[in-house]
Amino acid sequence: MEHTAVVAQMRQLIQLLAQHNHAYYVMDQPMIADSEYDQLFHQLKALEQQYPELIQSDSPTDKVGGAPLSKFENITHTVPMLSLGNVFNQEDLFAFARRIEERLPNQKIQYDVELKFDGLAISLWYENGILIRGVTRGDGETGELITQNVKTIRNLPKVLSSDQVLVPQLLEVRGEVLIPKAGFEKLNADNEAKGEKIFANPRNAAAGSLRQLDPNVAASRPLAFYAYGIAQCEPDNGLTSMSESLEWLNNFGFAVGERHFVCDSIQEVQEKYEKINQERPHLSVEIDGMVVKVDDLKQQQQLGFLSREPRWATAYKFPAVAALTTVENIDWQVGRTGTLTPVARLNPVAVGGVTVSNVTLHNIGEIHRLDVRVGDTVSVYRSGDVIPKVEKVWPEFRPVDTVVVHLPENCPVCSSPVVMPEGEALARCSGGLYCAAQRIEAIRHFVSRKALDIEGLGDRWVESLLHLNLLKDVADIYHLHEHREELLGIEKMGEKSVQNLLDAIENSKKTTLASFIYALGIRGVGETTARMLANTFQTLDALRNADIEALKKTPDVGEITAEWVIDFFKAPHNLEVVERLLAAGIHWDAPVASTRQPLNGESWVITGTLSQMGRDDATQMLQALGARVSGSVSSKTKCVVAGEKAGSKLEKAEKLGIQVMNEVEFLALMAEYGQGLNEV
Ligand code: IVH
Repeated sequence: MEHTAVVAQMRQLIQLLAQHNHAYYVMDQPMIADSEYDQLFHQLKALEQQYPELIQSDSPTDKVGGAPLSKFENITHTVPMLSLGNVFNQEDLFAFARRIEERLPNQKIQYDVELKFDGLAISLWYENGILIRGVTRGDGETGELITQNVKTIRNLPKVLSSDQVLVPQLLEVRGEVLIPKAGFEKLNADNEAKGEKIFANPRNAAAGSLRQLDPNVAASRPLAFYAYGIAQCEPDNGLTSMSESLEWLNNFGFAVGERHFVCDSIQEVQEKYEKINQERPHLSVEIDGMVVKVDDLKQQQQLGFLSREPRWATAYKFPAVAALTTVENIDWQVGRTGTLTPVARLNPVAVGGVTVSNVTLHNIGEIHRLDVRVGDTVSVYRSGDVIPKVEKVWPEFRPVDTVVVHLPENCPVCSSPVVMPEGEALARCSGGLYCAAQRIEAIRHFVSRKALDIEGLGDRWVESLLHLNLLKDVADIYHLHEHREELLGIEKMGEKSVQNLLDAIENSKKTTLASFIYALGIRGVGETTARMLANTFQTLDALRNADIEALKKTPDVGEITAEWVIDFFKAPHNLEVVERLLAAGIHWDAPVASTRQPLNGESWVITGTLSQMGRDDATQMLQALGARVSGSVSSKTKCVVAGEKAGSKLEKAEKLGIQVMNEVEFLALMAEYGQGLNEV
């Protein structure tokens, strides 16, 4: 393969993996099965093995997982929290054992076999027997400090005492936090009754609970901790094996799982695996396999690590399981950003020990690919921690009167039109400003700095206001002053904070057309596009009435964004909200930028250091005149603005014979077009 093609493929894989990592680790909403993730990962690894000279610096193959969230304090692990290799069958397991035997010839090897808990890895620090901190794995190097939440875990000893052994000065215990099956079912049943979020699986529920900033939430969830290792112990506890370590931990009150064994041979490990796989539905916790570890700690040390995984341990995963059931209904759920996701309501069925009654069908394309209909018999598939999915429809069992599923025309939450521009996979509710499902995101966006910039209206306020039913849509923000008494009644909101909030709201009424357009949260319309639209159309009315052709002439606006703009202003509820916002007194001066766009459609590149302005300023000036500012030089580039220390882009421009300007020339040209520095 040509090198450029290899790099392109690597880039694509890295981007996909990053997206899925984010969905899995940060959002707790996996979009694909783990096995599919593994496939992508291995594809990237294989490419890297073949072309080591092309390994990209941001490749995830030398990291463990996703980036930590920013809202908790970040902590660097003294001993990194690494990952495990996987085996899926007897052959791989025996190969794992052979590799160990080859490294430790003529030594007797015993294996410690444990449950592979399907939760979240955490690290716990005890100083002189007192739990002082709990940290998530994060990306393996750095995790989040979640001590408050960890302290709410009921089966976890907060103080270590033992009448048999000495309490160490420092102990770092590693293990997994999860929600046992019974607790998970109860949690979902309670949430369903309250109309709250239903979790896809115990892992997501546990992850979501640990990441709550308010420890009361974690406390209300039936979390449990299972220990599986000791990262540090001072003074040394003198233990020589993994199995002894588990007993030692258990002695201090740590749960270590319902089953663990010491096996004298790898054949015995295989037998235990088969046994546990059978017992899996009867275990109290969700597991996705077993962990096989060399029992002797000295041998573990001799074996060491290969890149980010121990040579002395592996995860022996269970095979996927499937079950047949029928589709009772197909509902459409509206997400916080307006995406419509079809969910199949199933006749509840046990799959691998977990009852599955809802399964996502992802999008209308997937529904059509499967041709799944209400009444159909389907195979539901699940492997370990994977969210269940419909794998196959059985047409031979289809009742006679089924109908093909279509995308709903109106949002099931707010009845605004549902839209899906050509080439997009996801349908959306177009009532972004009004739809109750999108309310929180719409408000957050509306008040953000580059939008209406109402700094005081943070998440805590928003939560309380939603609770009091004072914020049904963003226009209600400008009526909050009519509810001063209720605002004062909110816990911890004194006279001063209420007044500050109302002042900030009042001050936000004077804005710019560009900020207002941006604040509407129209899909595809970021800050720059909003500015372009403001410059091009000059008034909100003109924008509202623009047709697709006129919109497409705006720099930065392509076919799809143009369609989103049209759809936004077609949704009657959005218009109502816009009217109410204007009626409340939001106003702006006419845009100052010239209506002429002499550089319309031209592509410009800025390179090197400019002395009189930042690159952002230069970019804004160019954009105001209709130019696009690109990061790379090509034959399509109209002109390159070269500051001090311009490098390869300048060289390339010269090679291609493209016009180059220095800063002084650039400023002169801008002044000619009425774009002075202070007008930006
Ligand atoms: S030992 C060097 N034991 O599986 C890593 N891990 O896929 C040693 N896990 O990050 C880990 N149950 O979160 C170990 N009994 C067990 C486990 C276990 C679940 C998790 C752990 C780890 C992941 C690796």
